Amino acid sequence: MNIQTPPGKTQIVPNDLSSFWMPFTANRQFKQDPRLFVSARDMHYTTPDGRQVLDGTAGLWCVNAGHARPRIVEAVQQQIATLDFAPTFNMGHPIAFELANRLAAMAPEGINRVFFTNSGSESVDTALKIALAYQRAVGRGERVRLIGRERGYHGVGFGGMSVGGIASNRKAFGTMLPGVDHIRHTHDLARNAFSKGQPEHGVEFADDLERVIALHDAATIAAVIVEPIAGSTGVLIPPKGYLQRLRQICDKHGILLIFDEVITGFGRLGSNFAADHFGVTPDIITTAKGLTNGSIPMGAVFVKDAIYEAFMQGPPEAIEFFHGYTYSAHPVACAASLATLDTYQEEDLFARCASLAPYWRDALHNGLKDCPHVIDVRNEGLIGAIELDPIKGEPTKRAFKAFTDAFKAGLLIRTTGDIIALSPPLIISKSQIDELVDTLRKVLLTAG
Ligand SMILES: Cc1ncc(COP(=O)(O)O)c(C=O)c1O
Repeated sequence: MNIQTPPGKTQIVPNDLSSFWMPFTANRQFKQDPRLFVSARDMHYTTPDGRQVLDGTAGLWCVNAGHARPRIVEAVQQQIATLDFAPTFNMGHPIAFELANRLAAMAPEGINRVFFTNSGSESVDTALKIALAYQRAVGRGERVRLIGRERGYHGVGFGGMSVGGIASNRKAFGTMLPGVDHIRHTHDLARNAFSKGQPEHGVEFADDLERVIALHDAATIAAVIVEPIAGSTGVLIPPKGYLQRLRQICDKHGILLIFDEVITGFGRLGSNFAADHFGVTPDIITTAKGLTNGSIPMGAVFVKDAIYEAFMQGPPEAIEFFHGYTYSAHPVACAASLATLDTYQEEDLFARCASLAPYWRDALHNGLKDCPHVIDVRNEGLIGAIELDPIKGEPTKRAFKAFTDAFKAGLLIRTTGDIIALSPPLIISKSQIDELVDTLRKVLLTAG
């Protein structure tokens, strides 16, 4: 492949973009006007022409400790030179067990078992399989239905896509898993626009689960899966009391509750998990992203002890769960994760997130609520969203223009539909929050 070095620049950029079929991207549009990063450190990316871009999204909600953190870089380098790979099917390596123990100690009480995967999508499919197999193991094999939520995002595997509730992610891909239904989403701008933190209205949206249960009969339902905060669909913060009520309904009917914490886990809300932040303990938690600070692909599914124990029946030489990935607990990912947890701990980054959250909230609301076309600003922890009024007949266009304008102005944001989502690394400073909001304000003020 030919590469070119722009005159006077040390970085190289590819001059042929044709072969890489880019994920979740308008490939033809991108390749006409590409946006590239060639390096990153702490709060900034660098472009091939040497521009610094403030990371307002922690990459893709994953680089919670900021980029190229020395401990993580060193741990990965050392691990790959020491034990590059070891199977975890009927074999083991020490740091897989060490990491699982460290993670269990971080999880809510009663959740002490960890199954490793390589992504959020794999974590979700693993969690759904655990839920189904658990029900069978405890003699309730007729509980085969899975319930998701409209506007939910649970990755792109067939399981996650089926319980997910984003039409564009589903419509081209056939009939999905059978036996899946969805409860309604919680977005209610008419009552909750410009809420600071959790919206006041909408606890009753949880009762939609009773409707679905009445329709299918609780005795056929294995599990309900929701994101505590729906991230990818535009940052939908749960109304006050909503998650508590979902928990109560699941308990009443013997249904497992799965929190998909791929975004909310590892400090994003100022605590280990959203479960801690909102004070609601699910039965299973799915994670990825911040688990390794985005450095090496890895996911983890956290499971209540009682669920694990239900599998540990029968002859001890029998495999209890016919599931796993070649790269489950990959040594380099384990090393990256241990170093990530050390970094979070040493720098007390989750507490830092919690203490910055009020500043973040005020900066977003005060700085952006009066910009043109803004119909909502919302926040929780170090997550924010600005919802724009779509251009008539051209949904997504307004937000996408803001995205490209922000990139030109030195800021990485993320958009979904006409919603701008923000989730900076937890190391962001107050002056960088100001810079982020000022840049976005200028972008929105000049947008059409
Ligand atoms: C809540 C949630 N679940 C699952 C996923 C899928 O994760 P991955 O892209 O690592 O497969 C994501 C990704 O954004 C997510 O936000």
